[in-house]
Amino acid sequence: MKINGPINEIKFRQFSFDQFKNVRINNLNTNIKRGQMIYVIGSSGIGKTTLINCMLGFIKNYKGKIYYNHHDLKTLNLNSLRKNISLVSQDTTLFNDTIYNNLIYGLKNIPTHEKILKLFNYFKINQNLINQKIVNNGANLSGGQKQRISLIRAIVRRSDILILDEATAALDVDLKKKVYQYLNQFHSNQIIICITHDTNLINPNDKVIFISNDKTICTSFDKLKQNYPSFQKLN
Ligand SMILES: Nc1ncnc2c1ncn2[C@@H]1O[C@H](COP(=O)(O)OP(=O)(O)OP(=O)(O)O)[C@@H](O)[C@H]1O
Ligand SMILES: [Mg+2]
Repeated sequence: MKINGPINEIKFRQFSFDQFKNVRINNLNTNIKRGQMIYVIGSSGIGKTTLINCMLGFIKNYKGKIYYNHHDLKTLNLNSLRKNISLVSQDTTLFNDTIYNNLIYGLKNIPTHEKILKLFNYFKINQNLINQKIVNNGANLSGGQKQRISLIRAIVRRSDILILDEATAALDVDLKKKVYQYLNQFHSNQIIICITHDTNLINPNDKVIFISNDKTICTSFDKLKQNYPSFQKLN
């Protein structure tokens, strides 16, 4: 079945996955609604990217259910679903073309140079870069530049669901904060899922999914800190 947007809710019900070495996603139950930003945290290799791969339909042999707007993921046409999702993955892929063309690739409503330059300005990217040609998957850019360009590419898509998989890991603290501020201010009607190791930037009331060897917990960040020894051990 094709899913026509808008996607207003994602639900996990008794969702578990432990088929890969060290991955322990155990009985996740939560609803993520349009307008919410949720963080996914947990040690390296515990299954954070795997969770996203399940959500995108790349991995199918999970237990339990994932629903988009009450539709079981397993009944959905994956192309139609993925059109509603923007992912900034851990490994950025850029094409051998100008940065501008990389940013507008596949878009129906193409943002003007001016709009993109505003974003460059906000995220402190040199404006001259907009027409620079990318070579060799961005070998002529710094890791932080590549990451900001991938973020802008996802931002201008304005998809119902935005997934950031350690998408700010190469940025300095000020830029990381700017990214979160920007998303909170201008993307407050999306579902944003943010995988991060920067737990110091998460606010007490923010909702988090914490994956650990014991169990997978979904709660507010302050409750996680107070109540769960496995999280205290991680830090
Ligand atoms: N397709 C696959 N087949 C088998 N094992 C896999 C596959 N994909 C991932 N894994 C394994 O699953 C484990 C968890 O990977 P995953 O990328 O989900 O971790 P992560 O929590 O995102 O870690 P990190 O914080 O380092 O990004 C790793 O040990 C990885 O080797
Ligand atoms: Mg990962």
